[in-house]
Amino acid sequence: MTNLTETGFGYTDGDVDTNIHNNGPTLNEIAAQRYSRRATLQRGGAAIVAATMGGSVLAACDSKVTDTGAGPTVNAGADAATTSGRVVTLTGTATGGNGLTTAWSQISGPTVTLNSASNNTANFIAPSVSAATPLVFQFAAADAAGKPTIARTTITVSPATLGFAAVAKNKLDVVTVPAGYTVQIGARLGDPILGGAAAYKNDGTDTGYANRIGDHGDALFWFGLNSSAARDDTSSTRGLIVQNHENINQQYLHPNGPTSTGGVRPEAEAIKEIECHGVSVVEYAQAANGSWSFSANSTLNRRVTPNTPTVFNGPVKGSDLIKTPYSPTGVAGRGTINNCANGYTPWATLLTCEENWAGYFRRSGDNAARTAKEVTSLSRYGVTSGSGSYGWSSVTAADTTNTSFRRWDARATAADALTDYRNEPNQFGWVVEIDPYNPSAAPRKRTALGRMGHEGCWPGAFVAGRKPAWYMGDDARREYLYKFVSNTAWSAADASATDRLAIGDKYLDAGTLYVAKFNADGSGTWLPLVFGQNGIDASSAVYPFADQADVLVNTRLAADVAGATPMDRPEWTAVNPVTGEVYLTLTNNNAANRPLNGTDAANPRHYNDPYGAAQTAQYGNPNGHIIRLKEANTEATTFAWDIYAFGAGADLNATNINLSGLTADNDFSSPDGLWFGRASNATGMVKPLMWIQTDDGAYTDVTNCMMLAAQPGTVNDGGARTITNTGTGGATATQATRVGAAPGANLKRFLVGPVECEITGVDTTPDGRTMFVGIQHPGENGAPATPSSHWPDSQATGTAGATVRPRSAIVIITKNDGGLVGL
Ligand code: FEO
Ligand code: CA
Ligand code: CA
Repeated sequence: MTNLTETGFGYTDGDVDTNIHNNGPTLNEIAAQRYSRRATLQRGGAAIVAATMGGSVLAACDSKVTDTGAGPTVNAGADAATTSGRVVTLTGTATGGNGLTTAWSQISGPTVTLNSASNNTANFIAPSVSAATPLVFQFAAADAAGKPTIARTTITVSPATLGFAAVAKNKLDVVTVPAGYTVQIGARLGDPILGGAAAYKNDGTDTGYANRIGDHGDALFWFGLNSSAARDDTSSTRGLIVQNHENINQQYLHPNGPTSTGGVRPEAEAIKEIECHGVSVVEYAQAANGSWSFSANSTLNRRVTPNTPTVFNGPVKGSDLIKTPYSPTGVAGRGTINNCANGYTPWATLLTCEENWAGYFRRSGDNAARTAKEVTSLSRYGVTSGSGSYGWSSVTAADTTNTSFRRWDARATAADALTDYRNEPNQFGWVVEIDPYNPSAAPRKRTALGRMGHEGCWPGAFVAGRKPAWYMGDDARREYLYKFVSNTAWSAADASATDRLAIGDKYLDAGTLYVAKFNADGSGTWLPLVFGQNGIDASSAVYPFADQADVLVNTRLAADVAGATPMDRPEWTAVNPVTGEVYLTLTNNNAANRPLNGTDAANPRHYNDPYGAAQTAQYGNPNGHIIRLKEANTEATTFAWDIYAFGAGADLNATNINLSGLTADNDFSSPDGLWFGRASNATGMVKPLMWIQTDDGAYTDVTNCMMLAAQPGTVNDGGARTITNTGTGGATATQATRVGAAPGANLKRFLVGPVECEITGVDTTPDGRTMFVGIQHPGENGAPATPSSHWPDSQATGTAGATVRPRSAIVIITKNDGGLVGL
């Protein structure tokens, strides 16, 4: 990318209004302004840039020089218009006289930082505004005799708009971004980050993944660092990227894919697969030329894996339900797994979320040794596998004493929970807090936030004196949306505490967990999941709850009892930093889980999106939608809702399917990642940008997965609508729902990923000028010797050697002119 201090910025989108250069003030006014300007320079003011051509303005001001007549002729350039977040270059000219000295300064309007690009030019990033706002700049020149002349130009800044041309759908093996943007590749699967790990060969022979970047990079978050490598929330040039590593492409981690002998996995293969999961913390920095790199040996780098010691906090700490041979008192555990989306705290910690953990455990066949409650619980959470994902527990046959394999066998085979690992699954499905600035601090499992297939955990506004809330999707078909409201009202001073996990204890260990019920009339209710309330007690026919720890371990069962609304796979939540409205992606559903007569107002569609050359039927809601909630504040127990946008992968002319009027510029399917621009820059102010990422299998006959940018409106900016759904055999049914205003040009496709990837994970630096995006599992369906993607090696040219294996990786996106990404 180009740095702001370099030359070459073009101001491209200004409309010339009037030219007022040289219509300046009287000589007395000039003198006054020159004095004022000198005072500003002497104070070291940032809003003025002096450019010298053989002298200095200040020296000229005080020098005794013979008056040679008229001063120089200056021109400040034409007035122009732009929008928030874009780079504006001011170009002045000064002629006449010798030893000219020039300077740009700001006269009026919201204060901006003027950067000097060359002698007569300066540039700045247009500030966030809520209405058209004039900013007046002055170009002053003086000759050697001190004769000054000034000219002014007015730049009118209007509110932010999407500032890029939509990227076309495609199936290329590259990350495609709009014209004017550059993609750099960040950390990839296997890259060394600790312990002097060897360079990654990417041929299946690499080992030592606890010292490397893990696989399947998912949600990520930027934590700034100052020049002393300490926390700095404002830093945009040095920081830590904390990224989840959700899962693996097992076939590429071994020379010829995974192996087993007699049903027993080789220990070395299992170790690699286990260590590829978890979380990474990696230091990144931007060089003066704008290029980004990460450090392989920063002392802040860290890997959290499924073997990293963790501790339990909150109401479940010490419960019999999480006691294991590893932690007979139920206060500790090992690691985190299937970490999907995330959340943050204002005290600068990361919340990582355990999603599809249930399948990793071998469990089936032990019902007779379980209590009825245990069987109900295990069944409700899908802990039913006959082998466990990847068969890690099979290693026990060859290494009988190593419990890091034995633990993945959750069958009740011994006397009790302290002699087998029957309770190990209860140690997963939590939100886990990590202090990114302290590599030795054990992650804390925050049990007050419930146990489910946690997708993400995004907070609402932090308002002093009000209890903060975090919003959480449980990603499975017909699962629910949750909200955790802390018992502790927010105190802003806690944001800067140095014992960050202690602040986490304060806000995240006690509170009320709610689940959402969506009513047909556009209202909704947060139902509390509290032992002893609303039938959540020992008398429940669904599951006789014993206490609040039992409620939290069995959050899904408590939500069933409460009467929550089953949703079309709740994925990420995001909160508009201006309005506080909460958005939730509902990625998709199918006819088996939600038949034609199973729709409701909040999950209203049922139709077919035929797939591929064979036009294979996909009935249900294969393309998903994005619902949004408006509540009075984070403590509210009611809300209003509507549906911001419906995905569409079928016929865009089908009015009962393409309910949001999507076009070729913004049609998408299976929304998953969801994120608003940070409030520290124009992408998160006034009308914030919302970024939508897809994890799709329904529209991939037409396009690879993608990321879009939107400027959404507000809840109920559309209206009620009744649609006609279509099921197999031509059956129809009507369903009333609430559809937001059509997004139109306020939703555009920004990025398309490489072959067989999912786009997941996004953040920017606080200034909004660098964006980090996760590209997960490119080539996921390929074979070790014949990969179906070669990304990121293919990024430069679109191709790479036929046997080059794909790698999940972070891409770093910047706008070539240094402006804010998306604007
Ligand atoms: Fe890991 Fe629901 O996506
Ligand atoms: Ca289709
Ligand atoms: Ca996801």
